[in-house]
Amino acid sequence: MRRKLAAGNWKMNGVSASLDELKSLAGTHADPSVDVLICPPATIVQSAAQTVDNTPISIGGQDCHAESSGAHTGDISADMLRDAGATAVILGHSERREDHEESSEMVRAKARSAQASGLTAVICLGESLAQREAANTLDIIAGQLAASLPDNSTAENLVIAYEPIWAIGTGKVPTLAQIGEVHDFIRTRLERRFGAGVGRGVRILYGGSVKPDNAADIFRVPNVDGALVGGASLKASDFSPIIKALEESA
Ligand code: 13P
Repeated sequence: MRRKLAAGNWKMNGVSASLDELKSLAGTHADPSVDVLICPPATIVQSAAQTVDNTPISIGGQDCHAESSGAHTGDISADMLRDAGATAVILGHSERREDHEESSEMVRAKARSAQASGLTAVICLGESLAQREAANTLDIIAGQLAASLPDNSTAENLVIAYEPIWAIGTGKVPTLAQIGEVHDFIRTRLERRFGAGVGRGVRILYGGSVKPDNAADIFRVPNVDGALVGGASLKASDFSPIIKALEESA
C-alpha cells in the first residue's frame, strides 16, 4: 500500500516569521496517518527542519543543482539541502522549467544527484493549456516521464507530481475524469519502466489549485496518492483541512 502524501510548495514565499505556520501545523497534526512534507524557500530550510524536529512533518527543498559542489554561484546542491535537514526536493516544477529553461534532461540530472544524496525527488510533470486543447496531454506526459526520471529510481526516492500548468494558481481544476486519466497513464508507464513492484509503489500527487473545498473529491480519484499544494499550503488553517481530507481518503 502506498502511504498518502500531503506536500506543500511555498515557492518564493516565507521568511522566519512563517515558521509559526509550521509550528501550528505540527501542533494540529501530531500523529498524522499520512506523510506531510513542506518545501519552504532555501533560506529557511534549516530553521524549518529545526522547527519540526521530533514531529512527523518533513522538510524539502524546491530545486537543487545537478552537481554536489563547485563553481556555481547562487546554486544549492542536494548535499547542502540534506545537510540543512531536508529529506526531499521538488524538481522540474513548471515554474522552473519556464523561468530557468530547465529541460527534462536537466531535471533527470538533478534528480540523480538528489537521490544519490539520500533525498526523495518529487518530480513535476504537466501540460500547458495549448497542449491539452490540442489533445497532446498524454504524449507530453509520456515524454516528460521518459526523460525526467532517473533509471534506478525506487518507490522511496521518487514521487511524481502531475501539475497541469493551466491549473496552477488559477483556481481552474481539471475534471476528476481528466485527473484520473493522467494518473492511470502515469501508473501504467511507471510499471512498464520500473517493473510492477517499484511502479506500483511510487506515489503520484496531483497539484494545481488544490484547496480545502475540492481536496476530498480529488483524493477519491484512483491513483491520486496525495497533493502538491501551492497557495493553500502557506497557512496552516488552509493546509490542515487538506491533510485531514487526505487522511479520511486513506
Ligand atoms: P497552487 O496550489 O497555488 O495552484 O500551486 C500548485 C503548485 O504549483 C504546487 O507545486
